[in-house]
Amino acid sequence: MKILVINGPNLNMLGIREPNIYGRTTYTDLCRLIGDHARRIGVDVELYQSNHEGDLVDRIQEAYDRIDGIVINPGAYTHTSVAILDALKAVSIPTVEVHISEVDKREEFRQISYVRLACFATITGHGVNGYLEAMDMLRERYAG
Ligand code: DQA
Repeated sequence: MKILVINGPNLNMLGIREPNIYGRTTYTDLCRLIGDHARRIGVDVELYQSNHEGDLVDRIQEAYDRIDGIVINPGAYTHTSVAILDALKAVSIPTVEVHISEVDKREEFRQISYVRLACFATITGHGVNGYLEAMDMLRERYAG
C-alpha cells in the first residue's frame, strides 16, 4: 500500500509558528514520525508540502492510479479551496483530512472545510499524532 501525506501552506513552519496552537514538533520531526509509523504498519509513504494551491492540485492529480490513500492537511486552503476539493474528487482516492489544532473550536472561518466533502474521515485537535491515526485508518480501510 502507498500513502501520500500532503501538507499545505505554513506547515513547513511547524515548531516555529504559534507553538501554543500547533506545538513544538517541527516539520522535519513530523516527516520522521510519519516515516517511522509507515515502517511500523508496513506501508510505503510519500510526503509533500507546498505553500501554493496549484502545486497541491498538481500533486493530487499525480497521485491518480498510483496512490492508495491520501492524508491531507491543506492548512488555510481547507477553508477556501474548491480547487483542492475538486482535485480530490477527480482522483477518487480514499482521503483523511487532518488538522493539528481543534479547528471547530477556533475562529468561525476555520469551521468551514471544503476538502471535507471529499474525505471519508476528519481528525482535528490530536496534534501531530492525528497524521499517524489517519494512516492507520487508511491502512484498515485498504485491508478491507
Ligand atoms: C490547520 C488549521 C488551519 O485553520 C490553519 O490555517 C493551518 C493549520 C491545523 O492543522 O490545525 O494552517 O490546518
